Amino acid sequence: MKYKRILLKLSGESLMGDKSFGIDNNRLSEYADQIKAAYEQGVEIAIVIGGGNIFRGVQAEEGGMDRTHGDYMGMLATMINAMALQAALESKGVQSRLQSAIEMKEIAEPYVRRRAVRHLEKGRVVVFGAGTGNPYFTTDSAASLRAIEINAEVILKGTRVDGIYTEDPEKNPNATKYDVISFDDVYRKGLKVMDMTAFTLCKENNLPIIVFDMDTPGNLNKVLSGEHVGTIVRN
Ligand code: GTP
Repeated sequence: MKYKRILLKLSGESLMGDKSFGIDNNRLSEYADQIKAAYEQGVEIAIVIGGGNIFRGVQAEEGGMDRTHGDYMGMLATMINAMALQAALESKGVQSRLQSAIEMKEIAEPYVRRRAVRHLEKGRVVVFGAGTGNPYFTTDSAASLRAIEINAEVILKGTRVDGIYTEDPEKNPNATKYDVISFDDVYRKGLKVMDMTAFTLCKENNLPIIVFDMDTPGNLNKVLSGEHVGTIVRN
């Protein structure tokens, strides 16, 4: 395997599968299978998952709710997904630990960096819930922050598209995919990879991002073994 310690970012929306809300059990199980396959290769895996399939902070603002309030609701949504993912992993025999950025000690360990690293060293998958614990930060920012904190070698951003394109491929069929692109070129061309806070954190800490299609079974292990799947962003 090319990577020893990774941070996998999964989107909440992808967990919906074909549903319009909530968690699709088949999709959840399929993700857990891919994570299990990587785990069996001895890769140290930390995971951050979004909550957009349940609740999004911006949606609250549109309804007249305070943004901060909505963001906290979104953090709780990520905990629901994180708990579901942990259950799916454990049902397949994958040892895991769940840590939350907001204290809720009846259901998850509090986030403690050194303890998370220890879990990884002991071969447990660590799921980080509740984002960064702060409003105005996305789960992409949580992924960048945690990845840097635990010294992950790379962020793997699992999405529905198979990489970064010159333009939106749904709007322009002639758009082409980048195999490799620099952080500076992403800024220059105004491409969307992550929000700027998350993206800048990666750039400044020299943490590469690989954007790939997690919804194709087997792709996670392909990325981990160094196959050219998706797009890599690096300095
Ligand atoms: P080692 O000490 O390295 O073996 O790690 P461990 O996680 O197995 O030991 P620990 O005794 O800390 O945890 C045992 C179980 O309790 C694990 O499933 C933890 O995730 C869980 N656990 C530990 N601390 C907390 C907590 O504060 N809240 C909740 N809900 N669970 C916890």
